[in-house]
Amino acid sequence: MTMDIFAEYDKYVMPTYGRQPVAFVRGEGCYLYDRQGERYLDFVSGLSINNLGHCHPAVVTAVQRQVAQLIHTCNLYYTEPGAELARLISETSIGGKVFFANSGAEANECAIKLARKLGHETGGAGKHRIITLEGGFHGRTMATLTATAQPAKQAPFKPLLPGFTYVPANDVVALAGAMDESVCAIMLEPVQGEGGVHPLAKEFVEVARELTRKHDALLIFDEVQTGLGRTGKLFAYQHFGVEPDVMTLAKSLGGALPIGAAVAAPAYADVLEPGTHATTFGGGPVPCAAGVAVFGELTAPGFIEGVAAKGQYMLARLRELEQAGLVTEVRGMGLMLAIDLPRPLAAEVVSRALEHRIILNSIAAGTIRFLPPLIVEERMIDQVVEFLTTTLKVMM
Ligand SMILES: Cc1ncc(COP(=O)(O)O)c(C=O)c1O
Repeated sequence: MTMDIFAEYDKYVMPTYGRQPVAFVRGEGCYLYDRQGERYLDFVSGLSINNLGHCHPAVVTAVQRQVAQLIHTCNLYYTEPGAELARLISETSIGGKVFFANSGAEANECAIKLARKLGHETGGAGKHRIITLEGGFHGRTMATLTATAQPAKQAPFKPLLPGFTYVPANDVVALAGAMDESVCAIMLEPVQGEGGVHPLAKEFVEVARELTRKHDALLIFDEVQTGLGRTGKLFAYQHFGVEPDVMTLAKSLGGALPIGAAVAAPAYADVLEPGTHATTFGGGPVPCAAGVAVFGELTAPGFIEGVAAKGQYMLARLRELEQAGLVTEVRGMGLMLAIDLPRPLAAEVVSRALEHRIILNSIAAGTIRFLPPLIVEERMIDQVVEFLTTTLKVMM
């Protein structure tokens, strides 16, 4: 069937996204293909979802097998993929137990509710305040939007939830000043992703850990974007030597199928009891079977070390652009990287990249974020850097 997909979207899909003018029909490895069969190098990975590349054979096989066997039961019953994925998450991270959701925002909703409930139990109704960081991003539902301390995103939807306090990232004095016994949690991204790819300072994360211990509050890490190998470690908290009490995951967890997870360390694993939290789709056997396949790849010998090495390579190549005066800053961790341009031309660079069959993402007027599949190869990184060098030379 031929149809004008762009016109149909305009007519029938809410305009919540600024879409690039391309419709994809197929994906394989680091490449996407449009309706004309043109091949595009993907350095966005569906926003860090397709981390194993498109249609990874292990994921496809696991999903095909599971979808033919059992698609859904709801959480009133047990399934093997749910048990297996929960065990893998728990055993490779902070121990404890997992709640399965369907997205990053929902995983964070669970973490927020867990912190509030625990706060009520340990300190009474007054212990409900949650501290988050300016420039952070935790989702678009009302609670996670409230946690997302970005005024422009929040303004049209006020009033927000009560009980959230925002402090500037990496400001230990402000963080200490905001803490008291009314705080039930500090929630942060170890590397602020959507806010511009800003890794937090190690000292700041350590202070957050100390303060939460001192004030009997939870430390929640939102690893929806940073988790599962993206930063060159299985979880970004491992770079900081600081373990959170609760960690949230989503994005690449289901090998591109929708699933989220909140994992609570053993001491907090039973805070949410029957009847306190739920979601009908959460932890379905198909996304969980995909998640088990994802873990199989991520934990294969050398895989994560390879991500770290490729991240170093890409960082070094992007620094050449900085040395050439074409970009003003390069930052990030592993394969979660960004460049700042001297002028607000990021959208234009993304458009030109698309013309050159490269998919890039701008997260601010002058900032381009790179989230290539973790299976990316050095020659692909070279292709992107060469495109940027040529394009930026002409544009600047
Ligand atoms: C750190 C972080 N938390 C939460 C979310 C929200 O996830 P979702 O879009 O799956 O609700 C995102 C999405 O970009 C994210 O990057």
